[in-house]
Amino acid sequence: MTSPFYWCANAHVLFVAALWLVNPASLMGFLSQSSDKTANFTGQGLSQVPTGDSIPDDTENIDLSENSISNLTLVGYNNLKSLKTFNISRNQISELTPNAFKDLTALMVLDLSRNNIKGELLEEHMFVDLRKLETLNLEQNPMLILKSNVFNFMELPSLKRLDVSHCDIFVLERSSIDLPTLEYLDLSWNALTKVNKEAFRMMADLKTLDMSHNRIKVLDTVPYLPAIQTWNLDSNLIEEVHIKDQIWQRADTIENLYLRNNKIMRFGPDDLPLDLVSLKVISLEQNDINCDCRMKWIADDADIPSLETRNITITCHYPTRLANRNLLHVPADELTCSISVTRLLLIVMASIIGAVSLAIGLFVTTKWIRKYQRIKRAAKGDTGGDYSAVYTRDEEDVRVTMSDGKGLLNNSREFDV
Ligand SMILES: *[C@@H]1O[C@H](CO)[C@@H](O)[C@H](O)[C@H]1NC(C)=O
Ligand SMILES: *[C@@H]1O[C@H](CO)[C@@H](O)[C@H](O)[C@H]1NC(C)=O
Ligand SMILES: *[C@@H]1O[C@H](CO)[C@@H](O)[C@H](O)[C@H]1NC(C)=O
Ligand SMILES: *[C@@H]1O[C@H](CO)[C@@H](O)[C@H](O)[C@H]1NC(C)=O
Repeated sequence: MTSPFYWCANAHVLFVAALWLVNPASLMGFLSQSSDKTANFTGQGLSQVPTGDSIPDDTENIDLSENSISNLTLVGYNNLKSLKTFNISRNQISELTPNAFKDLTALMVLDLSRNNIKGELLEEHMFVDLRKLETLNLEQNPMLILKSNVFNFMELPSLKRLDVSHCDIFVLERSSIDLPTLEYLDLSWNALTKVNKEAFRMMADLKTLDMSHNRIKVLDTVPYLPAIQTWNLDSNLIEEVHIKDQIWQRADTIENLYLRNNKIMRFGPDDLPLDLVSLKVISLEQNDINCDCRMKWIADDADIPSLETRNITITCHYPTRLANRNLLHVPADELTCSISVTRLLLIVMASIIGAVSLAIGLFVTTKWIRKYQRIKRAAKGDTGGDYSAVYTRDEEDVRVTMSDGKGLLNNSREFDV
């Protein structure tokens, strides 16, 4: 259906129409706008999706952003087959009927950002008709979790950009993102504590993976990303990194690896793919890199290709004399493990304390051993008991000699029995 007239929910169109009456030049803008076929309801305080009759069938763009809609349901809109852009950003959507996006077969851009959508609401089959969808924005929703198979290639076979940043996500279930056409995935500003490679499947086209601002502590897993160019892991809590072999095996097209603002102190020859020529930028600025003798291997590592054409920044944090220098530009003989005066003092003090403790320990042990031996002898009747008794038979008389402990000989008292 081709509608010859321009319609719009916004009152300001009347104003534009009035302008056109006095100024024919604005007719051009007016017509080009009309070819957009936009239903613009932005910021109108709506609490519900407008009913079907206010949105014509050939609408290409619906802008419902900045309203107060909480229940997203397009029931009764079975003919939005031309809809290309659907913007419901900045509402309060917490309810999504399972067929909320049914029949939107031409939709290319869906903006659901800044709502109240929980991850558990997003089911498999939710996006089943969105076969042309290229951009899905779910930024700033309290998702917490992405369930298994929620974004999968059977339902979203054209998706290129997925934004699930600022969503408090801490769980990515198995195969939650299984999109071979995806080129850009934004998982930044979430609460992920690890890279779960089971979560990502068949990301054959992914070029940019943004996982910055999460809570990853140990980076030892690389998903299979055969087309990756940029992996951003800035501002996590990474202390340990062991990804060299896996990058070579699963992501060797990578060009930019960002690890800025983490907590890495040192790494070994088998931890980072410094020898991968395609890798143009590796950035480890704002870490806790300790440029001491334990990093000396880097100066001797013959496998690291020329740095001239590549930008590898490994900023020293310790020692202070090397602070803010790039480790790769520090001559090997400056990477030393000197013992500082305070450390020397600490060692001396520790030795003294150690020696004193040893002496005390020896003294206590000796005392204890002696006491133990005494008790043992007492148990045999030797000594240590309150009394000992000695029977003697002297001809016809039986005598009992009693004594306390050691004083047997000196203090014996005799009784006639
Ligand atoms: C809707 O109108 C607002 C201004 O009222 C404008 O900023 C916004 O871009 C329009 N949306 C579309 C999709 O044209
Ligand atoms: C949302 O709208 C659908 C369809 O109108 C309705 O069946 C459902 O009960 C609504 N949910 C809430 C929580 O209002
Ligand atoms: C949707 O609307 C919001 C707010 O009006 C705007 O910032 C955003 O860019 C729009 N999204 C798209 C995809 O046009
Ligand atoms: C190297 O990369 C850093 C970011 O990590 C950037 O700030 C700097 O400008 C780059 N230098 C060159 C020469 O490209």
